[in-house]
Amino acid sequence: MTTDPFHLGWFQNNTYGVHGWNVPWGGNTARDWANPQLQIDLAQAVDRACFDFLLMEDSAFVPDNYGASMDFYLKRAMRAPKNDPLPLVPLLHQATKNVGIVPTISTSFYPPFLLARLIATLDLMSDGRVGCNFVTSTAARAAQNFGLKEHIEHDARYRMADEFVDVVKQLWDSWDEDAIVADAENAMFVDPCKVRPIEFEGEFFSSRGPLNTARPPQGHPVLVQAGGSPQGRAFASKHMDVILAAVGTVEEMKSFRDDVRARVASHGRDPDSCKVLFQFTPIVAETDAQAQEICEARRKAADPKVMLAGLGSLFDIDFSTIDVEEPLAEMTTNGQQGTFKRFMSMGSNLREIAENFRFGLDDVHGSPETVASKMEEMMQEVGGDGFLVTGNLTRRYLAEITDGLVPVLQKRGLTRKGYSHAQFRHNLLEF
Ligand SMILES: Cc1cc2nc3c(=O)[nH]c(=O)nc-3n(C[C@H](O)[C@H](O)[C@H](O)COP(=O)(O)O)c2cc1C
Repeated sequence: MTTDPFHLGWFQNNTYGVHGWNVPWGGNTARDWANPQLQIDLAQAVDRACFDFLLMEDSAFVPDNYGASMDFYLKRAMRAPKNDPLPLVPLLHQATKNVGIVPTISTSFYPPFLLARLIATLDLMSDGRVGCNFVTSTAARAAQNFGLKEHIEHDARYRMADEFVDVVKQLWDSWDEDAIVADAENAMFVDPCKVRPIEFEGEFFSSRGPLNTARPPQGHPVLVQAGGSPQGRAFASKHMDVILAAVGTVEEMKSFRDDVRARVASHGRDPDSCKVLFQFTPIVAETDAQAQEICEARRKAADPKVMLAGLGSLFDIDFSTIDVEEPLAEMTTNGQQGTFKRFMSMGSNLREIAENFRFGLDDVHGSPETVASKMEEMMQEVGGDGFLVTGNLTRRYLAEITDGLVPVLQKRGLTRKGYSHAQFRHNLLEF
């Protein structure tokens, strides 16, 4: 059975934060964390390996959930310090040739006009190589940083996000593609007939428009989202070009993809126009035995408190107050719902959950040949559309993936060997 080629994205989690400061092969990250060179090296490596895009995570708060204090997080550089990743976009674009660059923005805190203009500017600067990851932001502390006493309720955040994207798309459409005529003889740079206000009045936002810059080269820069809840999937399937999923098994991958493709079709969209990529943290070593050893060593070394503190900051729950052996009582969250549901289903107490819970597929390990075969099998089973590679970033891990694994995938015709188009959207939709 032959497998169609699939897509690769790289998820730079904790984007412009601290990477590998206390692990072997982390280099001088503790000293250089704010220096953009690691980010540039990453972008160049994934560009060389013909990834579709580099997704840059973001959040805007210092957590204080675990132990009701910031101590645990600050001591471990979890989520802070972290720079705003948006200024990286032009740097990464200048340093690369083809890869799509996808910063993250919050639909709960950005004004839509500001965002529409910012992304349009970046798309114009890069000749059509940017996208945008729309998140609703889950942490109450982030909401407080932006002046809200309490965070907006989960489902209302998605209603807001839906309207937010409507405004942004209308602003991008407020200039026709051929509005700039630059006709010096007739003293007309912009044809005024081709630019118009949008007069948007919604439940959450209003914006007069038009945008005060031109239509982005891609029309709509590539829209990306990752929501696991029914509300998240509904929002994503209406608007998005790429949907990201963090699920743990092949069955879950298949059911997620089937579900969102049906939802995409229900909006009158072609399901093939929306790519579903699965978060994935492979361990690639020279031999299967070495990869197995690394995998076991990592499991033994994993500190469950780090996982519980990290997840607690996504759910706004202080897990330090709960005895890890006690059966867990019913709990709810206003934070990440899909992740919370998966988390709670992983065991009857916190110890079991911390042992079993994984963010995406993280037990795929082996030599480059073995991992490539597993990826191929998964794609045959699921039907597409690709993987979103992530992991603790060191230059060594980057080389294992981009110089170790990817050449094997390319040799087998499973991932692209080059880019056919100049623009991100066209490459994404090529297969
Ligand atoms: C691959 C991936 C990337 C994400 N990136 C971010 C991010 O950069 N910032 C953020 O606040 N949330 C991020 N999230 C969280 C999602 O936006 C969303 O809140 C989460 O998937 C839960 O959605 P739900 O409540 O609809 O289940 C990401 C999730 C995934 C799976």
